[in-house]
Amino acid sequence: MPLAFVTGGARGLGAEIVRKANETGWDVAIFDLSRDKAAEVLKDVPNARFFEGDVTDEARVVAVLDELGAVPDLLVNNAGIVTFKPLIETSTEEFTRTISINLIAACTVARLCAERMIPRGSGNIVNITSSGGIATSPGTHAYAAAKRGLGAMTEMMAQEWGPLGLRINSVAPGMIAGGMSTDIYKEPGIAERRSLGVPSRRLGTERDIAEAVMWLASDAASYVNGHELVVDGGLTKGTMSMIKRQ
Ligand SMILES: NC(=O)c1ccc[n+]([C@@H]2O[C@H](COP(=O)([O-])OP(=O)(O)OC[C@H]3O[C@@H](n4cnc5c(N)ncnc54)[C@H](O)[C@@H]3O)[C@@H](O)[C@H]2O)c1
Repeated sequence: MPLAFVTGGARGLGAEIVRKANETGWDVAIFDLSRDKAAEVLKDVPNARFFEGDVTDEARVVAVLDELGAVPDLLVNNAGIVTFKPLIETSTEEFTRTISINLIAACTVARLCAERMIPRGSGNIVNITSSGGIATSPGTHAYAAAKRGLGAMTEMMAQEWGPLGLRINSVAPGMIAGGMSTDIYKEPGIAERRSLGVPSRRLGTERDIAEAVMWLASDAASYVNGHELVVDGGLTKGTMSMIKRQ
């Protein structure tokens, strides 16, 4: 069975990617901060292997990749944190932390996997970016910069590693009712109000993202490389429709 290595796979979008990968015949290794967080997904996918670690800890990532016993066929670079705060109140330390996890660590994990995939001549990497890196909003500073940067890195990785047999793409989720956004939608009425701004007139689900990721990882997408697949119900490209005509 092919092996998928999913960072941040303990909960949210990552956990749903783990479930979808398992359903479609993949072995899965989860890399996340703590096993406790992964209790639910490990109940659903008991044969998934769990590895505790921080994506910013390069030595730990190397140790886990060595411990896997096989080179992953798929890396899903999903671990991420979000921060909402006006830039004027954001310290360099806070800014750096968001960039370190969302951009630098994602590139490091991609490089460590690519080093192992290249000698085999095949491998897939899917980076999870965000519609928030394409159409920015106030308070998202380092998150938006990191996600736009990861989109650019996806293109660059495809140019460097595509000729060596790898495919590297990204999935940019839009407004998803799940994962790190779960609390936002606990406020009554907000899901309905926000849905009105989406051409598909609904919020996205964790499953919508998992489907897109596993399609990119499949042979059906064998000629897709260096692409950012925006999964947002049409939101990002429709921002001009929100401008009221006189
Ligand atoms: N949920 C959304 O609305 C949304 C929208 C756009 C993009 N995204 C992106 O999707 C990805 C998954 O987000 P989510 O909504 O599932 O969030 P989440 O907070 O539910 O899950 C993130 C997971 O990543 C793990 N993680 C965080 N920092 C880590 C680190 N340093 N090392 C290892 N693991 C770490 C967490 O422990 C957690 O299990 C993120 O990259 C996020 O930016 C989410």
